[in-house]
Amino acid sequence: MEYTFEQYRQSADFIRGAIGSFTPEVALVLGSGLGFLGDEVENAVVVDYKDIPHFKASTAPGHKGRLVFGTLKGKRVAVMQGRMHHYEGYDYKDVSYGVRVMRLLGAEKLIVTNAAGCVREDWKAGDLMLITDHIKMFMESPLRGENLPQFGPRFPDASFLYTPALQELAKGAAAELGIPIREGVYMYFPGPQYETPAEVRMARLLGGDAVGMSTAPEVITAGHCGMDVLGFTLLTNMAAGILPQKLTEEEVLAAAEACKDKFSRLVLACLERM
Ligand code: HPA
Repeated sequence: MEYTFEQYRQSADFIRGAIGSFTPEVALVLGSGLGFLGDEVENAVVVDYKDIPHFKASTAPGHKGRLVFGTLKGKRVAVMQGRMHHYEGYDYKDVSYGVRVMRLLGAEKLIVTNAAGCVREDWKAGDLMLITDHIKMFMESPLRGENLPQFGPRFPDASFLYTPALQELAKGAAAELGIPIREGVYMYFPGPQYETPAEVRMARLLGGDAVGMSTAPEVITAGHCGMDVLGFTLLTNMAAGILPQKLTEEEVLAAAEACKDKFSRLVLACLERM
């Protein structure tokens, strides 16, 4: 569905009523496995998606469906605990709605995380990847339809969606912590079925290093409204066709759980330095 600027404003005003003069610096959209970081926010004010005008609920397993405002690593944050996905039936305007609302509340930076399949045969499940760029060939843009110039231009540049300075910051933080980190391109697939082996081979040929079902819509939207973006992928599994076995949601969630300590330490170290 299409939203007017006024509707985004109404959502932001409702939240403003709960958080008062608090202005988030960094917005976080946390994917499978990292939602718990929302529980570590200090002096938290929690707003459920279902209470916010025009907001949609989030139904994916492991996603909570609430916004948490407060401080984390000394930064004023807005944490989306649970994102919306196109495969849940939401259109991209809904999927990226929260990003615009957090922008209206003052957030100028966005950290996004996700779980994804590893396309690179020389990497392994459990590796972390700094997202340097993405490929989103499937489905329409979240910016399709009438442009809302209050957020950004009709034809926004996408050369630096993943902010180079934040990538440098993340590499520095990873090195300091001794956490190995890959760098690569996230290729978006709409899901909810995992990719076929042929699709994974296609992704590899096209320059994709990871395949996943989220993130790109939110990042396009964030870039449009001028936010700096830092993105991380947890490679929970080798993508389809690489190993002689089926992919399961249990495997993905188990890997996310197993890696959440190193993943969260890295994300928090970046947040601290931002
Ligand atoms: N493909 C798409 N999305 C995913 C995967 C995958 O292999 N693993 C976790 N999320």
